[in-house]
This record gives sequence, C-alpha cells and structure tokens, in this order.
Amino acid sequence: MLHARDRFRLVFHHRQNHSQSNENFRSVRQFPRNNQAHREAINQQSDGKRRCPAKESGRDGQTRGRQLSVASAVVSKNEHAGQAESDFSSEDMLTNRTPEAHAWALEKFRAFRSQGQFIPFSAGKDTVIFPGFDGGAEWGGSAVDTQTAILYVNANEMAWTGALSPETGENSPKALYMSQCGVCHGEKMTGSPPAIPSLVGVGDRLSPQQIGATIKSGKGRMPGFANFDDDQLYALIDFLVSGKSKELPSSEPPPPAMNYRFTGYHKFVDPDGYPAFSPPWGTLNAINLNTGEYVWKINLGEYPELVARGLKNTGTENYGGPVVTAGGLVFIGASDFDRKFHAYDKATGELLWEATLPFSGNATPATYSVNGRQYVVIAAGGGKDPKSPSGGVYVAFALSK
Ligand code: HEC
Repeated sequence: MLHARDRFRLVFHHRQNHSQSNENFRSVRQFPRNNQAHREAINQQSDGKRRCPAKESGRDGQTRGRQLSVASAVVSKNEHAGQAESDFSSEDMLTNRTPEAHAWALEKFRAFRSQGQFIPFSAGKDTVIFPGFDGGAEWGGSAVDTQTAILYVNANEMAWTGALSPETGENSPKALYMSQCGVCHGEKMTGSPPAIPSLVGVGDRLSPQQIGATIKSGKGRMPGFANFDDDQLYALIDFLVSGKSKELPSSEPPPPAMNYRFTGYHKFVDPDGYPAFSPPWGTLNAINLNTGEYVWKINLGEYPELVARGLKNTGTENYGGPVVTAGGLVFIGASDFDRKFHAYDKATGELLWEATLPFSGNATPATYSVNGRQYVVIAAGGGKDPKSPSGGVYVAFALSK
C-alpha cells in the first residue's frame, strides 16, 4: 500500500550514458515540454528511416525473419501491418530450443490446420490461432504521446489452437460436461492454468459438496449453472470425481446446445511449457499514427531460467499496458515471467532502467506527484505464471532526492 510512501520509495536509477533521464523524469510535470532533442530524433526516424532495434540487433538464440503486426490495433499503411505476420504456416517457425522440443512441435504442427488469419474452426482438427486469442495488441490499453502522435502498444505472439466438435445430443453427464463445461475446462478437463483450473483429480482436492456449490453458484470468472436439476448435478459431480458417465435417468432434456461446441483454449506450448515456436514471444511497439510506420519495436520480457541458459531477449507473454511521460519515458511492467518493471526511452526504445517487482506487474502503471515530487506506481499481482506465486501489492518509484 502506498500510505507509508517513503518505505516504498525506491531509487530511480539510470544508466550513465543517459544523464538526461533524471531530468526527463522530473520534467513530466511540466507537460507539455518541448524537448527538441527528442523531436529531432523522432523526425529523423519517421523520415522513412525506420529504426527497428528488434530486427537490427540479432536476437540471441533463435530468430525468425519477420515482424509481428499489431495491425489489429492500428489501421496502418505500414508495409508490415496486416501482412503475413499473422500467418503461422511454415515449419521454419517452430521452436529450436531443444531438438526434442522441435521434434515434438513438428509432429503436432503437421496435424494442425494453419492457413492464415480469419480461418473458421473446423470439426475434428485443431486450427492455429496466431498471434493468439489474447492479441496481438494487448488488452491493457496503449499509450499515446499527443505531441508526437506516437502510439505505444505491447503485443503478445502466442500460437493457440481451437477446434469444434459435434454435439452428440445424448443425455449423459459426459455430454453435459462437454456442452457446458468443456469450452473452458477443455475436452480432457485439463483447463488452461492458471486462468482456468484443470479438473483432473478434482475429487482429491474438493468434496462433492464443494464441487456442487461451485457448479451451482459459480466462482470468480466461472458462471453458475443454477439451471441443472439434482439428477444432472449429482451425475455431473460423479462424472468429475469418478470418470463414470451413465445415461441420466431424468426425464429432463439436456440443456439446449448448439450443433457444435468449442473444445477449449489451448496454447501451443512445448512439453516444458515454453512456446513451441521461435521468438519473439512478446513485443513493445512504437507506431507513428500519422504515417502508420513503426518507429521502433523491441522484445518485451524474458524467462529468467532460459536467460540463465543463454536464451536471452526472447520476449514473453505480457499483460498490462504502458504509460508515456512528457519527459520522454515509456513505463511498462506487463512481462509475465521476469517480474520486471521497465523504463524505455520513448524516442528510441532503449531500455534506461528496470527493477524486479515482487509479483509480475500485469497492470498499467500510473504517474502522479505529491508535494512536487513525481512517482510512478504499478499494481503487482502476478497470476499469469503457473510457476510463481500471485500476490497483491502496489509498488511506487521516485527519483532519489
Ligand atoms: C466460462 C468458463 C467456465 C465454464 C463454462 C465453467 N467453468 Fe468451472 N471454472 C472456471 C474458472 C475461471 C474457475 C476458477 C474460479 C476461481 O477459483 O476463481 C473454475 C473453477 C471450477 C471448479 C473448482 C476447481 C478447483 O480446483 O478449485 C470446478 C469444480 C469447476 N470449475 C467445475 C465446472 C463445471 C462442472 C462446469 C460445467 C458445468 C464448469 N466448471 C464450467 C471457468 C469455467
């Protein structure tokens, strides 16, 4: 909490060659401030000489020669936007993290349909959704610098798959599960942790009463199913606990269902839990809204344990948006696994400072000032990394006096 603000006041460090960043951060309050140096830098870049550090600087580890489009967020005349980036059609894009992971991914990929964007689902075969159900451009919102008309937006590049399955119309608890629960918890009950729990072995964790209460009343983001009669409810609980699915005695018809059902949300991750295709897996983008050009694009986020093994700067899944300050900084947390909070130079995308949060900062930061002193604060809650605990703290930073 912020009440003891001095306790949470962390020093805002900056790299030596950025002697200005101190000044920049301080000056946010004087918005709008005309920062000639930055204006020149931006003009230069939008003169057709697009800077794209993510592309220029060879990524460690693996590369694929393409750029993610955030065109879903921005109508753009950029030659990259809306182009084949969303097309996951080539085996060249599969992971090379380890030979085993590659072989696994290749076998899976050959069984998928992957024919570009806007392909309707089909029954019986998984279709690749790329760059994912959750973006492309992220839901955390974007930041716009009204002085320069540059939009800052983070993006995910995660391949998911989806499929349809015909409804059987039978009146059994399994059919009930498939039509009412499978859309979230998946056909095989494996869910999509941590957002949607697996129901495999749920009988070992919860009593039949607890399961029944969750089904009837819902919980968190799960809706309740108050319409089930007792026969249906008990048969469903029995099915979840024992796996047995006997035809329901009830004269009640099964709840209305469509001809097809969605079989659940699946990320295309390898057996170790990493994306089964090559990086980047997440990016931060600066786009000139007047020209539609990318001003810069960098990879956002890392897996600390992959960094330790030499696989750096991959970008990762990220949730939570950026803020841009008049002093020339873009603040963003968002990265799911490294728990970092970052400050970038808004003109170049250069990382100026970062700090590790207690939980990942899957939220959009805010900046404010108290008695003439400026702070930037982010809610750190985590919850997206199955291997890390979740929490709930606000962390505020200020420049040292
Ligand atoms: C819209 C998505 C959605 C649907 C549909 C759905 N669930 Fe859930 N379910 C969730 C989410 C999300 C949670 C986690 C809730 C929480 O803990 O905040 C959950 C939790 C549960 C839990 C508790 C699991 C645990 O380990 O704590 C059970 C049991 C469960 N669901 C059973 C069902 C059954 C049975 C159905 C079908 C009748 C169903 N759910 C339909 C999303 C869904």
